[in-house]
Amino acid sequence: MNIEKKITEKDIIEGFDSYLKYISDIGCSGFDCSDEYLDRLKGWERNPPGHHETLENIREDLGDCRRCGLCKNREHIVFGEGDPGARLIFVGEGPGFEEDKQGRPFIGPAGQLLNKIITAINMTRESVYICNIVKCRPPDNRNPAPDEAAACKSFLIRQINTIKPDFICALGSVAARNLLDTTKTVSMLRNRFHAYESARLIVTYHPAYLLRNPEKKKDVWEDMKMLMKAMES
Ligand code: URA
Repeated sequence: MNIEKKITEKDIIEGFDSYLKYISDIGCSGFDCSDEYLDRLKGWERNPPGHHETLENIREDLGDCRRCGLCKNREHIVFGEGDPGARLIFVGEGPGFEEDKQGRPFIGPAGQLLNKIITAINMTRESVYICNIVKCRPPDNRNPAPDEAAACKSFLIRQINTIKPDFICALGSVAARNLLDTTKTVSMLRNRFHAYESARLIVTYHPAYLLRNPEKKKDVWEDMKMLMKAMES
């Protein structure tokens, strides 16, 4: 039987509308026809609206990524790990030495502290999702450069859109600034919720910063209590 679906004007407008939203979500603006942007736009062809994208699809698209200079020194891409249906995503800055060696996020000293934070909010690593702004280790653990964060951005957005968390916890200023598109500091951004798509986003200090400034742990605990309360209600 040949069933033809009539395409209405409404379908075309809705398709165009979601295409424009997709373009804006992945960080494209204007008419940039560079390879980087064309590469990002391919995501639309592979995953048009209605196609249920999975984290595996996104990892496949990332491939043996060479989109920025961080690929030169990396040992492993650190894509992210945890529950694909997590209610809460932790977003860090970028892999460190241990993470690069093993291809897993937050498994070094900062990761041990993050594990304690996760336990303190009555959750487990397996029940949350953990990833970073950039998926390859910046040399000497420097902050990722804007072009490096930009090259990874569409993949992070696709991860978040696929998981559809209720809550996102940005760990440190690099994560907060990239996700919220701001230059504000953690102390200005913490202690309240920000809107991020349909999720509520909280900013707190990065565990590596806490290792150097343990007096800030009480602030993180305040942030976590606020998060727990909101997750329970
Ligand atoms: N610091 C981060 O921001 N992310 C990691 O995965 C490890 C350390």
